[in-house]
Amino acid sequence: METHIPTRAEAWELLNQHNANDGLLKHALSVEAVMRHMARKLGEDEQMWGIVGLVHDLDYERFPEQHCRKSPELLAAAGWPGEYIHAVVSHGWGLCAEVEPTHVMEKVLYAIDELTGLVKAAALMRPSRSVLDIEPSSVKKKWKDRKFAAGVNREVIEKGAAMLGADLDGLIADTIAGMRTAAKQIGLEGTTAPAS
Ligand SMILES: [Fe+2]
Ligand SMILES: [Fe+2]
Repeated sequence: METHIPTRAEAWELLNQHNANDGLLKHALSVEAVMRHMARKLGEDEQMWGIVGLVHDLDYERFPEQHCRKSPELLAAAGWPGEYIHAVVSHGWGLCAEVEPTHVMEKVLYAIDELTGLVKAAALMRPSRSVLDIEPSSVKKKWKDRKFAAGVNREVIEKGAAMLGADLDGLIADTIAGMRTAAKQIGLEGTTAPAS
């Protein structure tokens, strides 16, 4: 297939072809929302950043043992350009891929991927169960409690922040701001949303 710029609709369809797990889809939408927020903030290509965020874990549900290795095949087969594929793979740098994030979009993805998990876990601890009223300080508190959301790789987030020259507090605030724009879709709108 010839290479072409993927649309958001195409990315969503591809994601749904390979993912049925609600939690994974919500994670994808969370990362998309934060990537869009960051692109807007930095004056970058919001559409591209969002799409890369949306499909970054494309292969994870069907090929967990080959995470970051199957996605390039799937994306290339769908005719996606190399820069999208490079970006998707680089989120697993040092974990499931040897491809280092180089473009600023890739560094942002690397830094915020795990952080969305910590924000979600911290939001669900609140009486509101919402990302809409959480403060960066409550996420920071949970950051220090390594037993809380222990699966969230804090070293990766720190490495990502260092790559960007960003401070952790700012990154947490931006991740919350991005997730808020998709609160309903990611199931973190609060008590009015159905429990998931
Ligand atoms: Fe991943
Ligand atoms: Fe992810």
